[in-house]
Amino acid sequence: MPSSGAIQFIVLVCSVAVSFFPDEFDSVVSPWLHPKHDSISGLHWPTNISKDTTSVGCHSHNDYWREVPLLSALQAGCISIEADIWLIDQAHQNYPRDLYVGHTASSLRAHRTLRNMYIDPLVKILDRKNPIAAFYSVVGQPPNGVFDGKPAQSLILLVDIKTDSGTTWQHVVEHLAPLRRRGYLTYFNGVEVVNRPVTVVGTGNTPFNLVTADPNYRDIFFDAPLHYLADATTSPKGNTNPHDNTNAGQGLTGTSPNTAPSAFNSTNSFYASTSFKDTIGLPRPFRLTAKQVDTIRAQIRGAHRRGLKVRYWGVPSWPQSLRNYLWSVLVREGVDVLNVDDLQSAVREEWMGGLDGDV
Ligand SMILES: *[C@@H]1O[C@H](CO)[C@@H](O)[C@H](O)[C@H]1NC(C)=O
Ligand SMILES: *[C@@H]1O[C@H](CO)[C@@H](O)[C@H](O)[C@H]1NC(C)=O
Repeated sequence: MPSSGAIQFIVLVCSVAVSFFPDEFDSVVSPWLHPKHDSISGLHWPTNISKDTTSVGCHSHNDYWREVPLLSALQAGCISIEADIWLIDQAHQNYPRDLYVGHTASSLRAHRTLRNMYIDPLVKILDRKNPIAAFYSVVGQPPNGVFDGKPAQSLILLVDIKTDSGTTWQHVVEHLAPLRRRGYLTYFNGVEVVNRPVTVVGTGNTPFNLVTADPNYRDIFFDAPLHYLADATTSPKGNTNPHDNTNAGQGLTGTSPNTAPSAFNSTNSFYASTSFKDTIGLPRPFRLTAKQVDTIRAQIRGAHRRGLKVRYWGVPSWPQSLRNYLWSVLVREGVDVLNVDDLQSAVREEWMGGLDGDV
């Protein structure tokens, strides 16, 4: 019979393993220096990304030079990640029919599929975080999320559909099955939205009519057109019908010119996003005008009133002093996530000095 000391030791080792994965501990320190080691087998795991370094969410877009961009983003503490999705439909020697991830069609690689890069790693991470999932569901506790110390924080997976809307959408729905089956997906049950470890949001060619087709269940939410939701403002750019602005990007597919701003609310949408460059405009010379700030405020009010999170893309990122200034204004005005290309600088909050000489 083992001594009670031995039993305690075993329990301790197990609990540490669940929290910190000590077998991979060494690799935690240098993820940025050795991106080629980003793989699920050499899993880097943040020891403590719960530390509140930022008051705003970090949204990581297409960190594709890393083998497993998901892990790099999690490690940087990003609560939101984005993948551009392409359906390759015809059988092809190098590309079997599947959903591929990449900025452009020419950047696709055979192993870079939605399943390999996002779905399988998320299932693996979440299974490790929920070793006794059955127990949790018995006691009615939601499963733990991916973030240590913030188990209720959902990871937002923004899926930017690049290819044909309806067909690709159907494949995305099917690809999410392993997460859905385990109860890891945030869903709407016809009455309320139930928060779970992963919240999937569709953008690009995601069809709004299919997102909302079932009034009693959905686990993919829409990325609403922020510029269309602006509350009253003095700016003529404040509230434009998305169908009048073909450059504005997402928010068009599966809507009609008659779709009212009131169609978008938290039962069907998560983000409200727009192109900063197209709907606010570039700061000239290096400061936003009062009118531009007014438009930002009107957009944020309109989105928040509907329970949606605000995200701008296409915020000028150079020079860095300009980017820092813009990020600081956006955070001050209540933007919910910052789109970051440079993960490290976002987490360091070096942009917090950007408000000198503010409008
Ligand atoms: C994680 O960071 C928070 C905030 O900085 C701190 O309070 C907590 O003790 C840290 N936890 C661990 C395990 O280091
Ligand atoms: C959300 O919007 C839909 C239309 O898209 C509407 O049918 C529904 O009643 C709205 N729900 C809430 C809670 O406002």
